[in-house]
Amino acid sequence: MKKIKSILTDANHELGSCKIETANLESQILLAYVLGVSKEYLIINANEKLEEDKINQFKDLIKRRMEGSSISNIIGKREFYGREFIVNGDVLDPRPDTELIIDIIKKIYAKDDSFSIIDLGTGSGCIISTLLLEFPYSRGIGTDISENAVSIAQINAKKYFINDRVSFIISDWLDAIDFNKFNIIVSNPPYIPSRDLEALSHEVLYNDPLIALDGGKSGLSHYKKILSNLQNKNNGETKFLIMEIHEGMEKDLLQLASSQGFKLESMNLYDDLSKRKRVIFLKF
Ligand SMILES: C[S@@+](CC[C@H](N)C(=O)[O-])C[C@H]1O[C@@H](n2cnc3c(N)ncnc32)[C@H](O)[C@@H]1O
Repeated sequence: MKKIKSILTDANHELGSCKIETANLESQILLAYVLGVSKEYLIINANEKLEEDKINQFKDLIKRRMEGSSISNIIGKREFYGREFIVNGDVLDPRPDTELIIDIIKKIYAKDDSFSIIDLGTGSGCIISTLLLEFPYSRGIGTDISENAVSIAQINAKKYFINDRVSFIISDWLDAIDFNKFNIIVSNPPYIPSRDLEALSHEVLYNDPLIALDGGKSGLSHYKKILSNLQNKNNGETKFLIMEIHEGMEKDLLQLASSQGFKLESMNLYDDLSKRKRVIFLKF
């Protein structure tokens, strides 16, 4: 039997030896998960001795982490906009960068506004679920080409009791949807140029499905398809298209949108906290 504090110290050293920068935090998250307690519990009860089977379970998880599994895939959860989402190997681990989309929509609409949203390439459903939770009178639809991703998105919507305001369908971008029935279209499409995929970290390649990353030859192929789906089909009501982009992609994307008939004066780029252009906004 060993004490919590010495178990954590050992794990911290092991993860640190694999150059995991957040070794301390990750050791705490994994031990809290095994014991079914909070991280705070571990600190307050640092001298508590643990049973051998719990220590072994914890060691197995540390081993998986050292072999490259991400924390969210081990525990099956990832935080997005302050809420926990269930994830697995079929969906992209939600990233903090994507939270910028939520902040932008909060600048356009008030909490009590009623509007409708399409989330293209919904993955875990983190974007659409968060928007419906932040805007309780809104409704929406999440789409993905991956049937497995749609199942996870449905589970997350149920977890947050919003399944009466959202539906999920399998669709190749907008092919199966009449976007004219909606006010906002949001998306975080795959945008890594195919040739750059191999250079991604082992952790990303090991945990995120390729279909969620591969943006084709130039990284723009999914944007091209989405924009061409929207081209010239607007029923006259103003709509917003808000998409996450890869750093450095903005000029090519503005050019692409303008070549597809979108007006430059109705387009905007938003910076993340590090002043990188990470979201394109189009009013059409
Ligand atoms: C970068 S992930 C984004 C997931 C989630 N929206 C998020 O932000 O965490 C891109 C998503 O697009 C989906 N996808 C890829 N190709 C697609 C297509 N042709 N039509 C619809 N969805 C597609 C992937 O399955 C994946 O879930």
